[in-house]
Amino acid sequence: MMNDRDILKYSLADFGHNDNDDVLAPPQDFLTWIKDPRVAMAFQFFEQPMLAAPTPRTSLRTNLDGVTRQMINLTSYNYLGLSTHPEVVAAAKAALDTYGVGAAGAALLSGTFDQHELFAEELARFKQKDACVLFSSGLGGNMGAIQAILQRGDVLVIDDKCHKSLIDGAKLAGAKLVSFAHNDANSLDETLARHKGKRVLVAIEGVYSMDGDLADLPAVVEVCESHGVPIYLDEAHSTLLFGENGRGIGEHFGLEDKIGVSFGTLSKSFGGVGGFVCANENLVRYMKCYASPFQFSCALPPAIVAAMRKSLEVATRDSSLRDAMWENVHYFRKNLESLNLDLGESASQVIPIIIGSSGEHLIMMAMAAQQRGLFLQPIDFPAVEAHARRFRISVSSQLTKQDIDEACNIIEDVIARPLGRV
Ligand SMILES: Cc1ncc(COP(=O)(O)O)c(C=O)c1O
Repeated sequence: MMNDRDILKYSLADFGHNDNDDVLAPPQDFLTWIKDPRVAMAFQFFEQPMLAAPTPRTSLRTNLDGVTRQMINLTSYNYLGLSTHPEVVAAAKAALDTYGVGAAGAALLSGTFDQHELFAEELARFKQKDACVLFSSGLGGNMGAIQAILQRGDVLVIDDKCHKSLIDGAKLAGAKLVSFAHNDANSLDETLARHKGKRVLVAIEGVYSMDGDLADLPAVVEVCESHGVPIYLDEAHSTLLFGENGRGIGEHFGLEDKIGVSFGTLSKSFGGVGGFVCANENLVRYMKCYASPFQFSCALPPAIVAAMRKSLEVATRDSSLRDAMWENVHYFRKNLESLNLDLGESASQVIPIIIGSSGEHLIMMAMAAQQRGLFLQPIDFPAVEAHARRFRISVSSQLTKQDIDEACNIIEDVIARPLGRV
């Protein structure tokens, strides 16, 4: 039985196993824990309703006190502001009139519209691969692709900071899941050497989602080539942002032709929802037959697909949006560095502020930030390591210098000062 003094020693990492005979009853310790007022306070940060678009200035009805506040939003993934771009919104509205709201079918049967066909071709061309398959979420895309590519007896080797969707894909495939130390080529090399003779796939991310650092793609390519193992690259946080033409980390490092499978999501820089996987023609055909999230789930709404086609066009017809984002990234970083904050190894628009091991400090700081009108979510263990609890800033092209200055003043007061950094 959980002891009152120990409540704060527990986390979501502790209740994944349920030995209750009644399968519909969550573990009793979980219920005791989650109802404790100190834990409930931390959970208040989840599912706070936004009352306006996910732009830098938005409106949030905070769970903390039920008050609706105008907030500076540093949390949404709307990196290029495309979710409210006038051309993107207009494309969605026009397609709504033509196609209605839902696809009303799985892609193989009746869920494929001309929009899906055209967008898949455009994405494949953009990513310089033969073909592309669309999924109704990024998570479904990773899970489905891995499920289709691998099988029992195979091995998925992932960087230990990879996203849950890749882990769940391995489970769905029945493949063995092995991780190597983050961005460590020697660890990858040793891991691959241990699995010689097996069918192996290596999965990495372009920009790691909790740290904002880049994959050491040249080193990963070298090691994988020496073992004859293909690479699956998750470009969720790098597509449209990196590389001369915005194609991602593969382009940034000049190594696109070394990537076997290129994954992207439409929920971040594209400003919408959905996932896509680009690969050779035969593999895409095979994935469409064996990826459950593609085969057995309703296709993306055609209006969303039409909007995402416009996002791709707007973001790639010139570099203005990503240039604006990078200018903001550099300005924000400079300000945060002047506050002596620990920004980890970030080299992207994802900038963590690592505050250390105290979950209580994290929650108190998050509360103070929200009360001051800063929407900056706390990221707690087990989402990140217990010694590196953090806030995570998503920099958008739409932030003004004034937004950033104001945000940094609040960060100085509620994070940097309490940490003794200034
Ligand atoms: C690296 C990575 N891959 C995949 C996903 C899943 O994408 P989506 O949220 O579009 O389902 C995410 C989402 O956060 C992610 O960060």
